Amino acid sequence: MNFSVFTQNPVAQKTDLLVVCRSPEKAHKNTLFNEADKKFKKELSNIIKSEELKGTAGENKLVFLAASARYVLIVGLGEAKKFSLETIRNMGAAVYGVAKQIKAKKVVCEIGGREFKKFNIGELTQALVEGATLASYKFERYVKATPAVKFDFALVASTKEVTEIKRAALKAATVSRGVMLARDLVNTPASDMTPKHLADAAKKLKGVSVKIHNLAAIKKMQMGSFLSVARGSTENPPYFIEMHYRPKGKAKKKIALIGKGVTFDTGGYSIKPAKGMETMKDDMAAAAALIGLMSVIKELAPKVEVSGYIAATENMVSGFAQKPGDVCRAMNGKTIEVLNTDAEGRLTLADAMCYANKRKPDVMIDMATLTGACLVALGLRVTGAMGNDDDLIKKIIDCGKHEGEMVWQLPLVEEYREELKSPIADLKNIGGGYAGTITAALFLQEFVGTTKWVHLDIAGPSFTEKPFPYIQRGGTGVMVKTLARFLETQ
Ligand code: BES
Ligand code: ZN
Ligand code: ZN
Repeated sequence: MNFSVFTQNPVAQKTDLLVVCRSPEKAHKNTLFNEADKKFKKELSNIIKSEELKGTAGENKLVFLAASARYVLIVGLGEAKKFSLETIRNMGAAVYGVAKQIKAKKVVCEIGGREFKKFNIGELTQALVEGATLASYKFERYVKATPAVKFDFALVASTKEVTEIKRAALKAATVSRGVMLARDLVNTPASDMTPKHLADAAKKLKGVSVKIHNLAAIKKMQMGSFLSVARGSTENPPYFIEMHYRPKGKAKKKIALIGKGVTFDTGGYSIKPAKGMETMKDDMAAAAALIGLMSVIKELAPKVEVSGYIAATENMVSGFAQKPGDVCRAMNGKTIEVLNTDAEGRLTLADAMCYANKRKPDVMIDMATLTGACLVALGLRVTGAMGNDDDLIKKIIDCGKHEGEMVWQLPLVEEYREELKSPIADLKNIGGGYAGTITAALFLQEFVGTTKWVHLDIAGPSFTEKPFPYIQRGGTGVMVKTLARFLETQ
C-alpha cells in the first residue's frame, strides 16, 4: 500500500475503486456521494433505494460499475452521535479488504467523518491509514509468504490539507510499524522468543540507547525476586533490558515504562493445566508492546524522556526452580513468601520497578499480562487500570478511547492490602482469592514508593482467538497506540 493525497476531482478519475461515505443523517448532504451518484447516473442511489441501505456503521456496499471507477464502495459511517475514530479504522480495514479482493491497483478514498466535526483531518487520516495498514498484517514466519498486496491508496483532500494529511499518514504508518513489531514478537513461539531473543530485539532498536544486563549482573543488582522466577530456567537464562530515549532539547518529564516479559509461563511448580498453557507465549506481550513502542519512538519524537525496562525470563520447572513456600528478597530489601509460583509476573515486575525508580521518574507505568482474574472482570477487550493517581489513570483511559483500545479503572482497595500479609515474610505473592487483579496491583504498589504510578493489566486484550477488522488472530500489539498517544500529549 502506498498512500498519497488526491486533490483532483475524484469522480472524474480513472480508478479501480472509488470509496464514498454515507450516514443516516447526512445521506443526502454528503457531496462526494452525491457527485459520484450524479456521475454514475443515479446507479448508487438506485441500489441504496432497492436494497434499503441506511448508512449505518459497518454497512459497506460494493457496487460494480465498469465505468471510470471500476467499483464504488459505499461505506456506512452511522450516526454522528456514535461516530468515533474506531469507525474510521474499521473503514480503513474494509477498504483494504475490498481492494485486495478486487485486485485494485488504484484506490481513491474519501476521508470519512469530516462532516461530523468531531475530529480534525489529521486524526481522521491517521485512523484511516492505521486501519488499512494494520489490516494488512500477516504472521508468516513458519509458512510460505503470500505476496504483499500492492496498490495506490489515494486520500481525497483539498490542496490546503495536503501537508497535514501527509504528516498524519506518516505517523499512522510509523505507529502501525510499532504495533506490528509487537504482534510479531508475541506470535513467535516461546522456543524462538526466549529472553535472549527479546534482548536481541531490543538491541536492534534505533534511536534509543539499550543496555542488556546478563544473569551475573542481575545477581549483582540483587534482584532476588526476579531471580527467584528465573532460577527454574536452567537452559534459557534471564536478561534485564533497559532502553532510554531522550528528546532533543529539554525533556518535559521523565517517564518510566515497565513491561512484563515472561517469555513462557508454565506456572512453575504451581503448574498450569495444559489448556491454560496453550497461549502462554503471550506472557511477554507487555514487553513486546514496549519494544514495539521504543522501535518508533525516535520518529514519534515525544518531548519527554522515556525509559523502558523489561525483566525477561521464562517461568519453568526444574530441580533449581523455586518451590511454593520459598522466600525471596526483592531489590528494595522486602522479603516475599512465594505461595504460588504461577503469580510470577509480579515477582519479576517488583525488581524492575525498584530499578526504574532509581532514576526518579515523574511517572511510572507498568503493563503486564498479569492476572486471569482480569479476564473474568473485564473480558477479552478491556485493559484494567489501577494506580495511585486518578488524573494519570484518566489520561490513559482517554488516550485508550482515542486509539480504540478500551481501558477501565478498577479500585485499588487499601482494605485488601492485609490479604498480602505473610506470617514469615514482609508480604506474600498472592491474595485471598477474590479480586485477584486488585490484590496483584496492591502487591506491585509495594515497589512504587511515592512515584505517580499506573498499572495496566492487559491479560485480556493482548491476544485474540477471534479476528477483528484490523486485528488478526494472535498477538494484538495492544497499548502501543495508547502509549504513543500518551507520550505525545504530555
Ligand atoms: N500469565 C498469567 C496471567 C494470565 C492468565 C494471562 C491468562 C493471560 C491469560 C499469570 O502469571 C498468572 O498465572 N496469574 C495467576 C495468578 C494467581 C496464581 C494469583 C492467575 O491469574 O491465575
Ligand atoms: Zn503465571
Ligand atoms: Zn504470567
